[in-house]
Amino acid sequence: MVQAQLESYISQHEGRFLDELMGWLRIPSISTLPEHAGDIRRAAEYAVEQLKRMGFEQAQVIATQGHPLVYGEWLKAPGQPTLLIYGHYDVQPVDPVELWESSPFEPSVRGDNLYCRGAADDKGQTMVVFKALEALMAVDGKLPINVRVLIEGEEEAGGESIEAYVRAYPERLKCDAAFICDSHMPSKELPALITGLRGIIYTEVEVRGAKRDLHSGSYGGVAPNPFHTLAVIITGLKDAQGHIHIPGLYDNIRPASEVEKNFWHDDPLHMNEMLLEEMGVREFTGEAEYPPLERIWGRPTVEVHGMVGGFTGEGAKTVIPAVAKAKISLRLPAGIRSDEAFALFERRVMELAPAGVEVIVHKVHGGEGVIVPVDAAPMQAAAAALKETYGKAPIFIREGGSIPIAALFYNLLGVPVVMMGFGLPDDNLHAPNEKYSLSQFYKGIRTVARFLQNMSHS
Ligand code: BES
Ligand code: ZN
Repeated sequence: MVQAQLESYISQHEGRFLDELMGWLRIPSISTLPEHAGDIRRAAEYAVEQLKRMGFEQAQVIATQGHPLVYGEWLKAPGQPTLLIYGHYDVQPVDPVELWESSPFEPSVRGDNLYCRGAADDKGQTMVVFKALEALMAVDGKLPINVRVLIEGEEEAGGESIEAYVRAYPERLKCDAAFICDSHMPSKELPALITGLRGIIYTEVEVRGAKRDLHSGSYGGVAPNPFHTLAVIITGLKDAQGHIHIPGLYDNIRPASEVEKNFWHDDPLHMNEMLLEEMGVREFTGEAEYPPLERIWGRPTVEVHGMVGGFTGEGAKTVIPAVAKAKISLRLPAGIRSDEAFALFERRVMELAPAGVEVIVHKVHGGEGVIVPVDAAPMQAAAAALKETYGKAPIFIREGGSIPIAALFYNLLGVPVVMMGFGLPDDNLHAPNEKYSLSQFYKGIRTVARFLQNMSHS
């Protein structure tokens, strides 16, 4: 194919690409809130429509126990490799909604950025893939390789349905490599490929004390306070120096390569400074004996996300709540299995719980971490594509976030997994004012098209 034609198609249609992304973003497909089930369905159908329009076959919504999957395929390149492409059309909740500068589900362009929930995570990045496929098909009437697309609607809520589907029908997903477009790069000038992600277990620890809420004057001193129990549990799980006290948790961490260890230690790209700047804090917390990059990418962490219970309204109410809950997650570097981590966590929480209260540990969801090899051919094809569009070879780094399907593709389908995304560190993922850079959106489309071309052995 003449590269110039591809370039001209993409530049001619940039405006429409953005409009189609905006149409998708307006659908509030929040997977964790049951009242959005209809929106989830509409967002899935929107993706099917995209696939149909560019000439994909078998384009369909696949019902699951949870939110539907979207599938489509184009398998008419005999002798060429097959790429399985993943994305997710569900998004995180929007609260605190008052901190959004524009309405969370009304896309708003300000400067180089498109603001909307899902702009970066992950509708924007999935649209990058759709438009790269569309451009290749439109210009050449065919794709350079075979492609299967599998999009889920539950990623932000644990991704159980896609996992069940991949386990049940691996033969329907036969491929030579998988591609996940749901990560970011350190800056617009510094392309990156992701070589590792942490796994996760997400839990709710519920503490029940007295049979009803109590007056804190009449009973304070003798009544169990579930919040205090939670405080004891939380500080017992992780101390002020960032060390986790869950026996056995650190045992199976997969050792990092020398190259990675040196990168973490030397921090040649001054990522530590960038991290402090992004967070708006002066100092890192955590395990002082490990470099900050290793703390995020190669070490487990325990984090508390929210506590529920008692009185949180205006003013004062002197009550000892009967029940309190904490949402607590662990991030798990590759090597630590999530089910084993959950068992160790639960045992430790029970051990920390004082007598006189009832403690229940619920598992909300879990997923495995992964480390993928950098020398696989598809990874090199992606690296070459980034070099072509960004004028600079990518760095290979890990991410501390989790995409549980990555480990499943790697371990169950047994294929190399390319994680290449075009988000930026200041995209406000999961937070108010989520955004996606428009220049990254358009450059991503060009890069993904190149990546597919580079994967074909002509
Ligand atoms: N896109 C993120 C994962 C991610 C975050 C990758 C940062 C690279 C850098 C994804 O949508 C996500 O948020 N995943 C959840 C998974 C969880 C709910 C199982 C996460 O990491 O919290
Ligand atoms: Zn996310």
